This record gives sequence, C-alpha cells and structure tokens, in this order.
Amino acid sequence: MTGQQIMVGLDVGTTKTCVVVAALRGSGAEMLGCGLAPSAGLRKGMVINIDETVDSINKAVREAESSAGVKIKSVSVGISGSHIRGFDSSGAIGIRGREVTDSDVKRAIDSARTVYIPLDRELLHTVPNEYVLDGQEGITDPVAMSGVRLEARVHIITAAVSPLQNLLKCCGRAGVEVAEVVFAPLASARAVLSKEEKEAGVIVVDIGGGTTDIVLFKGGNLRHASVIAVGGNHFTNDIAVGLRVTMKEAERLKKEAGAAYELIVASAEKIEITQAGGQQRTLPKKYLAEILQPRCEEMLDLLRDEIKKCGGYGSAVCGIVLTGGVSRLTGLDQLAEAVLGLPVRLGSPGAIRGLRAIAEAPLYAAGAGLAAAGGESEPQGTPRPDVMQGALSRMTGLVKDIFKNADHFHFMNRKEGGILCLKSRK
Ligand SMILES: Nc1ncnc2c1ncn2[C@@H]1O[C@H](COP(=O)(O)OP(=O)(O)OP(=O)(O)O)[C@@H](O)[C@H]1O
Ligand SMILES: [Mg+2]
Repeated sequence: MTGQQIMVGLDVGTTKTCVVVAALRGSGAEMLGCGLAPSAGLRKGMVINIDETVDSINKAVREAESSAGVKIKSVSVGISGSHIRGFDSSGAIGIRGREVTDSDVKRAIDSARTVYIPLDRELLHTVPNEYVLDGQEGITDPVAMSGVRLEARVHIITAAVSPLQNLLKCCGRAGVEVAEVVFAPLASARAVLSKEEKEAGVIVVDIGGGTTDIVLFKGGNLRHASVIAVGGNHFTNDIAVGLRVTMKEAERLKKEAGAAYELIVASAEKIEITQAGGQQRTLPKKYLAEILQPRCEEMLDLLRDEIKKCGGYGSAVCGIVLTGGVSRLTGLDQLAEAVLGLPVRLGSPGAIRGLRAIAEAPLYAAGAGLAAAGGESEPQGTPRPDVMQGALSRMTGLVKDIFKNADHFHFMNRKEGGILCLKSRK
C-alpha cells in the first residue's frame, strides 16, 4: 500500500462541497472514500464568503479523510461560474520535411496558446483538438509523420482572475494544496461519458444549484465550453415565493414532489406543506409542477440558444447527457428532449462500482472526474491499510479511459506563494 498514488477531487459547488478520494492501482483506480458538506459561501459558482467556503471545504475534506483512511494533502479542484470562457485557437510551426516529434507537437500547441489574454483573465486549459499537416486535416497524433508545416487546433478555456484566486485562497485556508484547477464540467464529462459518445458527438449539461455548465465533444475532442448562470436555487426560490414557504421547505418540496412539467403529475397526488408561519396545508402536487415548469422551460430555452450558438445542432451530436443535482428533477429529461429536440440521458459516474452513494448520484460526477484528473499528480499520501480493507470499493475502469484523455489537458498549476503558472502535461 505504501507509496501508492492517491488522487483527490474537490468540487466546491454552490450548494455542496464534495471530496472524492481514489487510488491508482495498476491500470485502473480504486475509490477509497468521499466526503460531502453543505456549501453556503458561493453564489452562481463563485465564492462570495471566504469563511463559509473554508468551513465547508474543511468539513468535506475531514469526512473524506476518515472515510478513505488517508491524510489529504493536495487536490484537483473544480471551477465554474459564468466568468469561464472558451474559444478556438490555432498555431503553426515549420518542420522542414522531417518527421514530427513530441517536441514539435508541444511547440505547435504553445504557438496556438500564444493569444492575447486580458490581465484580468487566466488561462485554464489548452485542449488540443486536431492537427493539420501540410493541409491534411483531422490528424489526431502527428508524431512520426513527415511534413513541412504542422498546425495545432486547440480549444482554450480561461477564467477571471478574482474568482479563481478566491477559490485558491479558500483551499489554502482549509489546509489543502491545489495541484490542479479544472473546469468542473470537463471533470463531470470524464466521469459520465463513454469514448464512443465523445467520438460521435455529445453535449454534457451539468445543472447544479447556481450554474448550468455545458461542454460539447465531437470526434473525441472538446469543441465548446460555456456556463449559464441558472440553476436549482432559482427553482427553489420560485417555490418559496409561489407557496410562501421558507427556502428550506421549498428545497424539500422540490426534491420530494417536484416535477418538470404538469402533465406528468396525477391530479389526485397531494403533498403536505408547512408555510412560513408554521401552518400546515395539503396541496395538489400539480401546483409544484405549475411553478417549476416555466422555470424549466426558460432554462431549456437558454440551453437551446447556447447549443445553437456552439453549432451543436449543425454538428450532428448524438445526444445530451444531463448531470448535476437538478438532473434528478422528475421529468426534466423528458422535457429537455422535447424542448431541445435531441435524445437525452441521465449521466451518473456509472463506471464507479461499489460505492453506492456515488454510483447513483450525478451530483458526485464532477468530484469523481476531478479525482481522476489528479492521476498524474505526485503521490500524496499513504492510506491506512486497516480502514481500506473493508470499506473500500472498486472503480477499476473509470480512470482507464479517463487517463488516456487526461494527457490532452494542460492544467493550470499553483506555485508556492500563490503565483499562477502553466504546467504542460506533454
Ligand atoms: N431530486 C432532486 N430534484 C430536484 N432538484 C434536486 C434534486 N436533488 C438535488 N437537486 C438540486 O440540485 C442542486 C444541487 O446540485 P449540485 O450538487 O450538482 O450543485 P452544486 O455543484 O452545489 O452547484 P453548482 O455546480 O451550480 O455550483 C440543488 O439546487 C438541489 O436542490
Ligand atoms: Mg456543481
């Protein structure tokens, strides 16, 4: 056990902080444990209260440590929020008719990355999509091919500096070192997508409490990434206002009896509610769906506009995978299929076996994908063998596929002293 590589994913969301701990075992990975804590220090994916966020990270990390039996030192942390931007870029180099080497590929990517980035933004990822060698497009790996001009086409993801630094500050204050910062829906996509789906074309929509994150893959590559500042908290708020109940009660009603559209709920179904003043009432469940349906449709309309903008309809994607907590709202997948005009399935980190809570919960998708993102980090800790024996669950296979793709990501790293720098994985 000693010296094995431990990978930790930290997903600091608007409603919950989730920590997933995994260990690399041979060609696969094994889930060791996880921690979950409510989060109240973020709004729309961005930190608005440092102390509350630190507190939430602390709780989730401590829970994950005792569940996994390891001391967590460093993590891959997810970031989201409407400040995230993605755009295509390309760069070319001359290779004088000889064979392309790894270092040529790196130089071409570096050249594609040489774009103007405003001072208030930071480069998060440079994801290579394809290479063009002497005009021949669609090359996935040009190494050992001969040519004169090598072009790299990449997708660049940037984040605003302040939300990024606030998140790093919270991690630092909670005593965890940040090895990597990953755009959260990329991590979710790793955990819920198959290689075939990425190849055929697929859109992952992670609907959380404060944000809806969208990533589009086609031909195995990332083509688009964006964030809409709408999430489950808006749904809860609508119920609280509509039924004059507290946010806590509205949250309970949404999860227990909410539905995305009215037709799905039988007229006879009833639910007990407690109003803000303490009075109990019995209401038809249809009332809840009547409140939620317009908000769901509004969110799906925004999503359809976003899919149109990024060419999702034109590029013939095979469907949409919904993840994040809101994906569990009854009937949302059916409504999404009707509004978006594409097949929709629910995505949970299904490749993880054994750890029931995770296998079944789409809200763990980002955390699981982030743990996998740490696969190339330095070994961090030594799990306590006694704790691992009984409680550990196997997830061999999850990371096998993920690590192949992880090579393509160029993660941002944090140096000692809080200075941000880029770390190339090639
Ligand atoms: N069964 C359910 N039905 C409806 N909504 C649900 C259900 N379960 C969870 N949710 C909602 O999902 C949201 C939380 O999802 P998630 O944990 O993915 O968000 P987050 O990661 O904390 O936030 P974000 O990613 O936006 O920063 C909450 O609004 C919660 O009410
Ligand atoms: Mg989230």
